[in-house]
Amino acid sequence: MFSCKDRVVSKPIRVIAAACSNMGIGKAGQMPWNLPKEFQFFLDTIRAVSRPGKKNLMIWGRSTWFSFPENLHPITNGIHVVLSHTLSAVPEHAHHLCHDFDSAVQLASCGPISEQVETIWVNGGAEVYREALGHPWCDLVYLTDIRAEFHCDTFFPLFDRSVYRLQER
Ligand SMILES: NC(=O)c1ccc[n+]([C@@H]2O[C@H](COP(=O)([O-])OP(=O)(O)OC[C@H]3O[C@@H](n4cnc5c(N)ncnc54)[C@H](OP(=O)(O)O)[C@@H]3O)[C@@H](O)[C@H]2O)c1
Repeated sequence: MFSCKDRVVSKPIRVIAAACSNMGIGKAGQMPWNLPKEFQFFLDTIRAVSRPGKKNLMIWGRSTWFSFPENLHPITNGIHVVLSHTLSAVPEHAHHLCHDFDSAVQLASCGPISEQVETIWVNGGAEVYREALGHPWCDLVYLTDIRAEFHCDTFFPLFDRSVYRLQER
């Protein structure tokens, strides 16, 4: 939460992920599966805005950002923030580089681009999801349940399920 001119504000923060039955999300820096319909759902969801001119701020961990297919850039309506402690320049196709999660949320909430931003989408990976799920302004988690088990090395974090209520399956 941030104080902008004495108001405590943030744009809504939303998490989007697909996890298999062992809550795996990634393997060797890539998606463990190839599910074009699920991937299309991901793209359609993060691109959606309610009015022309509005945009969504998309937060990516460094590894997830560099694993995203380059040919899919630019993502319509996307303002991309890459999180990293080690990068010193904004990566190609991205718009901002932040060194912590709160700075990315602050950009959307009371920086010069805040008027444009409708929703903050948190696109992974694991650590970034963990931070988002514990944030007081994270109100929705879009979690695709992949009904199979894949061998994974990256997992969706455990989170307090009493805070989030199942809305729709
Ligand atoms: N199934 C899904 O829905 C889904 C979604 C997204 C990703 N994935 C998969 O997950 C894997 C990647 O996830 P990952 O957890 O290994 O990596 P990641 O979160 O994408 O990237 C990790 C890096 O991001 C930076 N970072 C993360 N949190 C930060 C913070 N709070 N502040 C500053 N920098 C931060 C750090 O970069 P530095 O090392 O530069 O400091 C960290 O090493 C891949 O296999 C990908 O395909 C799956």
